[in-house]
Amino acid sequence: MNKFFQLILISMFWSCGPGSGNSTYNALSTTDKAKFDKYMILGKDVYNTNCKNCHQPNGLGLRGIIPPLSGSDHLQNFQKDLPCLLLYGSKDSIMVNGVLYPPQMPEHKISNLELAEVITFINNSWGNELGFVGVKDVDALLNNCK
Ligand code: HEC
Repeated sequence: MNKFFQLILISMFWSCGPGSGNSTYNALSTTDKAKFDKYMILGKDVYNTNCKNCHQPNGLGLRGIIPPLSGSDHLQNFQKDLPCLLLYGSKDSIMVNGVLYPPQMPEHKISNLELAEVITFINNSWGNELGFVGVKDVDALLNNCK
């Protein structure tokens, strides 16, 4: 294979990691980039096990019953409440993109690391670009649950 094609192949692999083309990812330090890639893969497993049945594989939910995570204004505006919401479930109705949803989000018995992984996954899937959330962020935010 000549050098030119080798270079093209290398650059294709380089740009195809889970975080490629994502502005969140591009802004991270090298250490956090490695974590981001890992969280995206493990967070998908957490999502498939705990969330997918309700929020659907495409993150679109079921209009009026289960809110979308893809393109959700609530997900964007209430990042700080996410660990508490996911861990303890919801108590009040939530408005997402102008539609009101019933407070039927269950509690989840998952670890702080799994919370960080699944939040990073939903934040950066289906076109979302809402940032990397590390386990230390989750630890801190869980101290403020209402
Ligand atoms: C039994 C179905 C069900 C499961 C399982 C479930 N959710 Fe939800 N989720 C809901 C409902 C219903 C709401 C709306 C709650 C409300 O209005 O108070 C919601 C709300 C949300 C919200 C806030 C609203 C939004 O769309 O931005 C997020 C984020 C969320 N869920 C993420 C998750 C994640 C991540 C998991 C897995 C760890 C999960 N959910 C598991 C039903 C579910």
